[in-house]
Amino acid sequence: MADRVLITTDDLEQAVRVNASLEQAGFDTAMVSSLDDVRHAVKGREPGAGSREPDAIVLSGGLHESTAQRLLAAAREHSVSTLGLVEATDEDPGQIGRELGLTAWLVKPTDPGEVTATVRRLIQRRHLQQRTGILGESAPIQEVLVKIEQMAPVTSTVLIEGESGTGKELVARGIHDLSPRRGKAFIAVNAAGLPETLLESELFGHEKGSFTGAAERRLGRFELANGGTIFLDEVGEMPPATQVKLLRVLEDKSFFRVGGTQPINVDVRVIAASNKPLKEAVSLGTFRDDLFYRLNVLSVYLPPLRERRSDIPLLVRTFIAEFAKQHDRNFRGITPEALQILVDADWPGNVRQLRNLVESMVVLAPEGEIRASDIPRDIRERTRTLPMRIAAPPPREIAGQELEFIFRTLVELKMQIEEMRRRIEERPSERVEVIEVGSRDSGLGTRTIEASVDPLAPSPESPTPVIYRPGMSMSDVERAAIDAALRETHGNRRKAAETLGIGERTLYRKLKEYAID
Ligand SMILES: Nc1ncnc2c1ncn2[C@@H]1O[C@H](COP(=O)(O)OP(=O)(O)OP(=O)(O)O)[C@@H](O)[C@H]1O
Ligand SMILES: [Mg+2]
Repeated sequence: MADRVLITTDDLEQAVRVNASLEQAGFDTAMVSSLDDVRHAVKGREPGAGSREPDAIVLSGGLHESTAQRLLAAAREHSVSTLGLVEATDEDPGQIGRELGLTAWLVKPTDPGEVTATVRRLIQRRHLQQRTGILGESAPIQEVLVKIEQMAPVTSTVLIEGESGTGKELVARGIHDLSPRRGKAFIAVNAAGLPETLLESELFGHEKGSFTGAAERRLGRFELANGGTIFLDEVGEMPPATQVKLLRVLEDKSFFRVGGTQPINVDVRVIAASNKPLKEAVSLGTFRDDLFYRLNVLSVYLPPLRERRSDIPLLVRTFIAEFAKQHDRNFRGITPEALQILVDADWPGNVRQLRNLVESMVVLAPEGEIRASDIPRDIRERTRTLPMRIAAPPPREIAGQELEFIFRTLVELKMQIEEMRRRIEERPSERVEVIEVGSRDSGLGTRTIEASVDPLAPSPESPTPVIYRPGMSMSDVERAAIDAALRETHGNRRKAAETLGIGERTLYRKLKEYAID
């Protein structure tokens, strides 16, 4: 299907010429006049047959009008590229382009052929974003995408720098996936937190018996990545001795397994990443300068999210849609007020933090929509409007992936609890009994909690309470529960099994085990 391009008619003469050139180049084009038309069109809902979301919009003029600005905001949120045709009388087209948030701009008078070529390039980049999953219309992200395109075909080493959660691994995978190595392995190794011997064995492998515990020969990550790409994360944390070995691999393309005597030759592209400026580690003397220059042949810098806030609405909306689908939630979106809070927040954990927060809000927001009150207080309070901000990244011990793991576990727990609650609510007659704290002997009295509809709303009149007393084992409790269920069902074993939520056969086995007749 041909890529779709809309052209605004503010400068009609330009619009007509551009439209003709794009049409001739095979694009599916439409000229749109008023703001309303255009805003609908961005959502693929313009009047007329065959409407669908555009891949790019050319703004032929009127860039300083508020209507253009609203259109640009809508385009950004829907990840639609924009090309602005700037008046020759405008002093600094670059600044105008950046201020307005245009994806690209050309100064009038423009050659329709050049406009078409630019549109083609923008659309190719959009496809690249879809392939790599890297979202963002801000200038730094667009620059990163250009770099990925340029770096993918070659084998030179790449150094990616940026705070935790800015997308370094995403970029590394993007470079690999667009490179001729895409069918081969992409292997990530985190250089932080592993003692030297373990890291070396991880990277280069070891021979049988090379150290205590090396019972078998083991291939290292460099060998496993042969023909593909190795991603060395947190390379700045690499111990000095390992740095020497890495330098040798980069220079000779060969290495020895730990305890080995035969050099191993590999063809591996190295992409390294660091969440602290590696140059600083060089000046502190903790990172070798020769290795730094060897890694830094090509470099990518990912700025923190707080320096590209214009990307936040697009990220938020995309993540909402993704998680609503994943968690099967009927979700409307986010209120403007809530979105503004997210745009203004500090994001020390960058896109990872934003993504995780959106997931938790999609799961937890009671109204099927993210509202300001759903946003945790620490995010609401840590906005740029505060006079003092603490922008330090989270402490290393719980940074990055660990934080993500903790978060995921919490979300899963929450989902499980919701599922349990749903099941209980679906079967109001089902009884949840048991649980007693305290003991008769201690004089506190026996307490029985029984719930028939909501386990959180105890009712004291249990027909057959099962009582736990200190000293009882799990089998004692189980036995008591079976007794109670049989009493309750007047000995009907099928019903008793049902009440207990176990299979009939399991009940028979337990009756035998506990010698209950
Ligand atoms: N531009 C982006 N568009 C969409 N998702 C992004 C973007 N940047 C980062 N993410 C998402 O944020 C999360 C963190 O990204 P990633 O793991 O690449 O960060 P990182 O820089 O390697 O972090 P760390 O230094 O902690 O390892 C991932 O879920 C990733 O998909
Ligand atoms: Mg990473």
